[in-house]
Amino acid sequence: MPESLSWFCKGNCPLYLAPMAGFTDIAFRELCKAQGADVMVTEFVQSEPLIREVARTWRTIDFTEAQRPMGVQIFGATPDSMARAAQLIAERLRPDFIDINFGCPAHNVVEQNAGSGLLRCPALLADVAGAVVRAVPEVPVTAKMRLGWDAESIVAADVARRLEDGGVRAIAVHGRTKAQGYSGEADWEEIAKVVASVQVPVIGNGDIRSGEMAVRRRRESGVAGLMIGRGALGNPWLFAETKAWLRGEEISFAPTAEERWETLLAYARILMADQEREAYRRESADVRWMLSKLHPFTKDLPGSRKLRAQLSHCHSLEEVERLVALCRGSVDTQDAGEG
Ligand SMILES: Cc1cc2nc3c(=O)[nH]c(=O)nc-3n(C[C@H](O)[C@H](O)[C@H](O)COP(=O)(O)O)c2cc1C
Repeated sequence: MPESLSWFCKGNCPLYLAPMAGFTDIAFRELCKAQGADVMVTEFVQSEPLIREVARTWRTIDFTEAQRPMGVQIFGATPDSMARAAQLIAERLRPDFIDINFGCPAHNVVEQNAGSGLLRCPALLADVAGAVVRAVPEVPVTAKMRLGWDAESIVAADVARRLEDGGVRAIAVHGRTKAQGYSGEADWEEIAKVVASVQVPVIGNGDIRSGEMAVRRRRESGVAGLMIGRGALGNPWLFAETKAWLRGEEISFAPTAEERWETLLAYARILMADQEREAYRRESADVRWMLSKLHPFTKDLPGSRKLRAQLSHCHSLEEVERLVALCRGSVDTQDAGEG
């Protein structure tokens, strides 16, 4: 295995930041990388707008050199459009891998027979993956999928074997069906069955919220790597904690309130700087577009209720900074413990 692919290998248990549309932007990935996330994947983009040169779609999959190893995730329903999109990405961005989304449960994706919609037709799914693999022989292709369409049609092990036969190099499995959405619990026993079915590394995903849980899930399932999504929202420190647990250090990485405030502000500033650099949404300095991204960082903060209520009234970065200063100041005297 070439050195550049060592992050796929069994043994070292790479930690992936799960792609999350609207949240895992360049700025957030920077925070997670600083806390030990090993592998990053862009949020998903559809193949057709990439081919049509829609600038906004191309911006979504931008990444920095420091974020490598970096994958670009695409979704689509036809082998041809997926192959063409993969070629364009490979030529222009030279990502470390291209990841295919077979997991998205959103109605508008599934109704096009893309994302988890393809889990209903494993043969077509395999055709899509095979076309992408052949289109970019120089770039490893990976896939991310759910267990199946619903509890009566768990196809993950069968699909994983087809993907492996088609040349896919690693497979991330979110242990839920499409029908579950985000309800119930991720089923790591089913993930373990996928591990037992293929030789390629399987990356386990679903509901990892602590270092302790990560180590337990890894032990139970035998996965080669772990992927963390919602647990890292507002809590990039989860990567540092998980790394520590994987090294055998059973410690919790609860940041101080001060670190949380600082990180929230740092994140807002990086988002703003990225926006200015890209000259996108340049027409105003309004920050309302980023408020939903900041929200997860307020959880568990003393004074967070006040902050959340008032954040929605902020229009500029200066207003966010003033509000944070105000909340920080009032915490010591008034509402410590409020969450
Ligand atoms: C807001 C949000 C956006 C998501 N966007 C994507 C996406 O673009 N591509 C993808 O493969 N999965 C996406 N997912 C699914 C996550 O990558 C992950 O599989 C899921 O959240 C389960 O992992 P977790 O329990 O660690 O969050 C998204 C999830 C959320 C909550």
